Amino acid sequence: MSLVHEIDYGTPASKSQKLVTLTIDGMSVTVPEGTSIMRAAMELGNQIPKLCATDMLESFGSCRLCLIEIEGRNGTPASCTTPVQEGIVVKTQTERLKQIRKGVMELYISDHPLDCLTCSANGDCELQDMAGVVGLRDVRYGYEGENHTRLGKDESNPYFTYEQSKCIVCNRCVRACEEVQGTFALTISGRGFDSRVSPGMDEPFLTSECVSCGACVQACPTATLNEKAMYDIGTPEHSVVTTCAYCGVGCTFKAEMRGDELVRMVPYKDGKANRGHSCVKGRFAYGYATHQDRILKPMIRSSIHEPWTEVTYEEAIAYAASEFKRIQEKYGKRAVGGITSSRCTNEETYLVQKLIRGGFGNNNVDTCARVCHSPTGYGLSQTYGTSAGTQDFDSVEETDVVLIIGANPTDGHPVFGSRLKKRLREGAKLIVVDPRRTDIVRSPHVEASYHLPLKPGTNVAIVTALAHVIVTEGLVDEKFVRERCDWDEFQDWAAFVADERHSPEAVEKYTGVDPALVRGAARLYATGGNGSIYYGLGVTEHSQGSTTVMAIANLAMATGNVGRNGVGVNPLRGQNNVQGSCDMGSFPHELPGYRHISDDATRATFESLWGVPLDDEPGLRIPNMFDAAVDGTFKGLYVQGEDILQSDPDTKHVSAGLAGLECLIVQDLFLNETANYAHVFLPGCSFLEKDGTFTNAERRIQRIRKVMAPKNGYADWEVTQLFANALGFPMTYTHPSQIMDEIAALTPTFAGVNYAKLDELGSVQWPCNDEAPEGTPIMHIGGFVRGKGKFVLTEYVPTDEKTGPRFPLLLTTGRILSQYNVGAQTRRTANVAWHPEDVLEIHAHDAENRGIRDGDFVKLDSRAGSTSLRAVISDRVAPGVVYTTFHHPVTQANVVTTDYSDWATNCPEYKVTAVQVSPSNGPTQWQEDYETLSRTSRRIAAEAAGGAREGLWLLYTSPSPRDCS
Ligand code: SF4
Ligand code: SF4
Ligand code: SF4
Ligand code: FES
Repeated sequence: MSLVHEIDYGTPASKSQKLVTLTIDGMSVTVPEGTSIMRAAMELGNQIPKLCATDMLESFGSCRLCLIEIEGRNGTPASCTTPVQEGIVVKTQTERLKQIRKGVMELYISDHPLDCLTCSANGDCELQDMAGVVGLRDVRYGYEGENHTRLGKDESNPYFTYEQSKCIVCNRCVRACEEVQGTFALTISGRGFDSRVSPGMDEPFLTSECVSCGACVQACPTATLNEKAMYDIGTPEHSVVTTCAYCGVGCTFKAEMRGDELVRMVPYKDGKANRGHSCVKGRFAYGYATHQDRILKPMIRSSIHEPWTEVTYEEAIAYAASEFKRIQEKYGKRAVGGITSSRCTNEETYLVQKLIRGGFGNNNVDTCARVCHSPTGYGLSQTYGTSAGTQDFDSVEETDVVLIIGANPTDGHPVFGSRLKKRLREGAKLIVVDPRRTDIVRSPHVEASYHLPLKPGTNVAIVTALAHVIVTEGLVDEKFVRERCDWDEFQDWAAFVADERHSPEAVEKYTGVDPALVRGAARLYATGGNGSIYYGLGVTEHSQGSTTVMAIANLAMATGNVGRNGVGVNPLRGQNNVQGSCDMGSFPHELPGYRHISDDATRATFESLWGVPLDDEPGLRIPNMFDAAVDGTFKGLYVQGEDILQSDPDTKHVSAGLAGLECLIVQDLFLNETANYAHVFLPGCSFLEKDGTFTNAERRIQRIRKVMAPKNGYADWEVTQLFANALGFPMTYTHPSQIMDEIAALTPTFAGVNYAKLDELGSVQWPCNDEAPEGTPIMHIGGFVRGKGKFVLTEYVPTDEKTGPRFPLLLTTGRILSQYNVGAQTRRTANVAWHPEDVLEIHAHDAENRGIRDGDFVKLDSRAGSTSLRAVISDRVAPGVVYTTFHHPVTQANVVTTDYSDWATNCPEYKVTAVQVSPSNGPTQWQEDYETLSRTSRRIAAEAAGGAREGLWLLYTSPSPRDCS
């Protein structure tokens, strides 16, 4: 294996359709108008020397190394800033050019430390390369005069260094931060000889505005900005192209290795989701994969009060199988079930649901998508006929108006957030519907035209009010609606939304939003050109999550914003494989490809290939599993890759359900909080250690590739297969590609997917079949999948979770850039430098009323429970609203969230909890106990890969854990 090298064309590709032909060094080349001469030469394989140019950035023309001659013209223009012209004749190698380039390089090298042999970028340095390319063998100037070679080093960032003495002030880093990332954290301070790259006002990187995306490190042609791992491990020697295992953007990376050690993750320019960009999580936060907390040996115990015993896989699987058989004999075949993970691969998820349906003989399978995007699946399939978003990410480049509802892309989906901000800087307009003033509302060179800061829980009212304005002000795209949608249903809907009770003025009493803002936003979305909607968990995690998804779908249809580039309805998926886990049949009522389990013909297809009869009754959803476990009718659960105790709402109820199980099997990287209730622990394996596919938020199926052997011995799919075989349900796969072949054989939307095609094309978006052999970037072109688009009436029903004298504030939750989900991975990386604890954002007015100062510990109470955390006074939230994240188990935001859920899918109402906030002296007793116990248990687990781990179990089985503060 060798390093994957991508060609750097020097300047970005031109999108022009018009072609231009010219001659370079005697060879004719035809390229799109607007292409630079540098790029045209590269198309011929002629690499003109360069330092300040790279094809991820617009050309800048500062280094003067790329000079060329054009016949009939005076001077030596820079090839990176000079566009091609029809018929010109260009020379890139003349004696004059050679002398100029050598002179330029000589000046650079004369002010550069000559420590190449010990430099971290030795062998990976463009300055070094260019010195060779221009034939510089001698430097005439000494180091006696003033120079920069003794400038200091900033090592504050946990992942990369800034070694100023090596900077050639090419500005690539500054431009990368502006153009690619959109953070504008860097400037060139000083002038002339004193020009220096500076984060913020000459601050260390760590405390500056830098979000550690790595774009500047990637752009830097020298060792000035370099990954610390390049110092620690050395330069990589081979690489494997794979996919990030964090969020639903699905960025492609080159995992660059030295031996079997991962040196760095480098974003891959051919990655169609990320186009060469990354965020701090995918780029740097992979250390959890080799963290000492990982459990590498299976363990069993007969009771959760016993210590763990380390065993072989054979023993663990035999024990698990015998327990599940015993439970089914005693309590019936529906007394067991399983939960698939949106962090695992399509193949693994498919196999778990196959095991449950074929091996357990029931449909008690559910997935963590239940608690995030199940309303998306329901809402979009009802209205459009497909349980997925309509666009690819490239579509944002064609959009004119972006409506973001309940999503925080710069934190939750950072690489897409950067692409979005780029489009906004180019002139697209922005509307944000969010209780909180997220970063995208106002960031450098981006300002929302409208921010509608609605009260949590009133999405349906506000989206229906937007529709009211569109209908009553005659802004409907009637031609689109007549051609593409059910006209009768549209008329019913139009009459419904036109009712005065849905006007912005009428709903203000619920939403708290100025009606003028709602009217302005509706007009802009309907008339501003291509209108696209992006939404997130701020839409779905509500008692009316499915209703809001359908209200959004209505809005896009009514304005004709579906079925072409630049428009559409785009759910931003939380975890890397939420889309895939749903596609693979993880819901209790649906087989892979969203086909109902009660459909005889579909069931027969699966029965014939799997060789077993299938239950035709939908199984239990996750909350029903907990209910049944509390009732004593559900006794065995297999959980792959999820920490349900921490991630699911109403922790006390979840813990009571888990405590009622006779056999809980947890398969995970770490001994997570759920494992406190487990009887069998099966070590999981990280994305770096296995082959498979993930499907991102664009329906894009992408390969993950093994870069190192599984530290625990088995990939997760192999462990599921062992379990199936032990239960007497034979599985004989030898590679995940065979599982994908079976998925393709059984799932019409995946019929054309196979590993060879993925290797050839890089990725495909489903549907991928005979009609669309290379996949489907944009859905519903020419017609909706269900036929006519369906308008659904969306009556606003206020949530039962109400504020009152005891709980007068509304809590809503969200994420922060550096952390991910319950933090199991990111808390085990240096990302904690940016977010060591969850905090509560509270408005100054509410804080003052309660005698709370910035940084004080406060107690957060709801009718479900209590926790304690630090308060941060913020004007991002309106009075009456408080906000926190849920990345740290010691804070446990889900101790306070309630068991209310979406009416259609049971997706929990995480985003609305009535709470009270009061001053507190510090952590509650249970939090202090948790810290002590989990520190101890982590040590025990690390030292002995076993032993009694207690932690939360002790806390939640105490008689009234919510009162122990
Ligand atoms: S890491 Fe990203 S955000 Fe930070 S300075 Fe570099 S480009 Fe800007
Ligand atoms: S830090 Fe690197 S990219 Fe930035 S100006 Fe210096 S050499 Fe160029
Ligand atoms: S944006 Fe998402 S997929 Fe991309 S690197 Fe960051 S976490 Fe990974
Ligand atoms: S590469 Fe063209 S001026 Fe630097």
